[in-house]
Amino acid sequence: MKFGLEELAKRHLVGTSGENYVIYGPALDLLALKHYADLDHAISLGKFIAKGKESDVYEVLSATSELYALKFFRLGRTSFRDVRRKRASGQSETNTWIKSNYNAARHEFAALARLIDVTTNVPRAVDTDRHTVLLQELPGVRLSNRPELEDPVTVLRSIVETVRDAYVLAKMINGDLSEYNILTDGVRVWLIDWPQWVPPTHPNAKELLQHDVETVLKFFSRAYGVEADLGATMKDVGSAAEDS
Ligand SMILES: Nc1ncnc2c1ncn2[C@@H]1O[C@H](COP(=O)(O)OP(=O)(O)OP(=O)(O)O)[C@@H](O)[C@H]1O
Ligand SMILES: [Mg+2]
Repeated sequence: MKFGLEELAKRHLVGTSGENYVIYGPALDLLALKHYADLDHAISLGKFIAKGKESDVYEVLSATSELYALKFFRLGRTSFRDVRRKRASGQSETNTWIKSNYNAARHEFAALARLIDVTTNVPRAVDTDRHTVLLQELPGVRLSNRPELEDPVTVLRSIVETVRDAYVLAKMINGDLSEYNILTDGVRVWLIDWPQWVPPTHPNAKELLQHDVETVLKFFSRAYGVEADLGATMKDVGSAAEDS
């Protein structure tokens, strides 16, 4: 046992903390990759798709020739503040780091599984393991790149409809929606990045929903000159109907 751990330590996959061994991030990456490889979800690793604030996303190829996007959560990469804030007392930093990332992956997988029943404008979640989620790889680019859109008004309408379906049918508010979390191929759109979603019963639900909608409307005005009224759009999304 000790010999095995020493070998892993030499490869910087585990380290020591006092008398204990602690596992390092790359070892978890390898274990997750082995999980997907064992299931034939991944037979080879493809290009590096993107580095998010809180994740790394890689393309993987499955045994059935499907391309997936594998998202590795990296909460706490830039700052341990959030992770610390959420730490239950008595837990070590490593435990906290692992738990936060495992929870984010589980939460995002559950969110996407629920959303796919009400809309096709989210990635299909294939599987989750440890701090990762395996997603259908979407075509297209982030809306923040301001790609040419065939019809910006229709694209905006699809986004608003997706926000409404998530809210009214799945009872979910993204809470972090922006041009950075929307992918498009110029015609279709996909809303990504759901680990922080909240239900309509959340104390700040209305503010978060309005913030999501307002962020998108402001972007469409700035980038595509499409103007839409916030009040009317919120009504379309369904929140005004509830108030009346
Ligand atoms: N299913 C997917 N198919 C293709 N690309 C994807 C997919 N999911 C994520 N990406 C790419 O990876 C990037 C980061 O993903 P995501 O927004 O989910 O993570 P994040 O770490 O929360 O990012 P950030 O905090 O920077 O918004 C996306 O902007 C997109 O470019
Ligand atoms: Mg994102």
